[in-house]
Amino acid sequence: MKIGLLGHGVVGSGVRQIIDEGATWEVRELEVVKILVKDESELTDPRCTLDFNDILNDPEISIVAECMGGLEPAHTFAKKALEKGKHVVTSNKKMLATFCMDLFETAVKSGVTVHYEASCGGGIPWMASLDRTRRVDDIEGFRGIFNGTTNYILDRMKKEGTDFSEMLSEAQKLGYAERDPSDDIDGYDVRYKVALSCVKAFDTLVNIDDITTFGIRNIRKEDLDWCAANGMTCKLIGSGKHFDGFVSACVIPTFLRGDDIFSNIPSNFNIIESQSKTLGAAAFVGQGAGSLPTAHAVVQNIVDIWKNQDPEINDKFAKPVDNQVHKGTFYIRTAKQAGFADLIDRRVGELAFITKKISLVEAAAACAAANDESLFIAEVAE
Ligand code: HSE
Repeated sequence: MKIGLLGHGVVGSGVRQIIDEGATWEVRELEVVKILVKDESELTDPRCTLDFNDILNDPEISIVAECMGGLEPAHTFAKKALEKGKHVVTSNKKMLATFCMDLFETAVKSGVTVHYEASCGGGIPWMASLDRTRRVDDIEGFRGIFNGTTNYILDRMKKEGTDFSEMLSEAQKLGYAERDPSDDIDGYDVRYKVALSCVKAFDTLVNIDDITTFGIRNIRKEDLDWCAANGMTCKLIGSGKHFDGFVSACVIPTFLRGDDIFSNIPSNFNIIESQSKTLGAAAFVGQGAGSLPTAHAVVQNIVDIWKNQDPEINDKFAKPVDNQVHKGTFYIRTAKQAGFADLIDRRVGELAFITKKISLVEAAAACAAANDESLFIAEVAE
């Protein structure tokens, strides 16, 4: 099976390495024959090219592995590859979550497929497990720690009482963070992963901007101190639930109880849990970021295509996101409290309070109206 690789950075070089090393008989059936790189400084291997057409027009290449990141030209290249009858495997959650409908429709027209295990949960076999669960059960919902960078930051802050910005630079040095780390700390990286999980779990396409999203950019030691004093741990949680005609989906820092397995997930690890009728809760833990774990997931998808084990054939339906059904209590710290008077249950600090049980829609609307750039919100688990 001949593969054209787009991108030779953190993930792409890992894909090339795993396939070149060929540790198993399945991987030895694969061959990376061309690698698209950005500029001349990256022409480090005789297979490297600066021209995408070398890959597009090579009739021997049946799979294109897109590991470039970013929206363009990744989207255009993926679309052209599909139109040319090549399967596409991508680790690029931002691109796929944004152009999902377009790429799936193009794939169906061309009789090929789009695979995206690596786009969500790095090396964890999350998408494969959803396919497998769905052979027996409908997925009712999922929740996950989908972002290694923020889990690393929150874990170190909790254990060492360290500062947010110092931990962010460490995560960047370790290669966990996105090129623009705002995507990690503002929750957008998780938003893309929640959108793609809705596709795989529910066959549902959502407008990514409708997924209510809060990140950890404004978290302070005092927030984590209150959380710890109450026996809880803060994690950035992405979740989705399926209802007739709509889904609820969000990304929000969450103060989890100590007996929640999620509260013990360390370092840059991810955990993702599905909920279905006969299986109940089933969780998958592993390396959610980094070169070889993410490349492992790309190669798994390539093997799936070769063995025809992940046909990705279900029709997808666009559905709205409605978070009125998501009810909870929220920890909010803000200096601009005027609009919150009716929502407050009790005060827990000079600027912090816990809300009454309200919907996420109400909480998000009040936070937006406060217009406070340093506001921090977390859901408090029941
Ligand atoms: N920046 C992402 C993370 C990379 O930290 O999880 C993997 O998607």
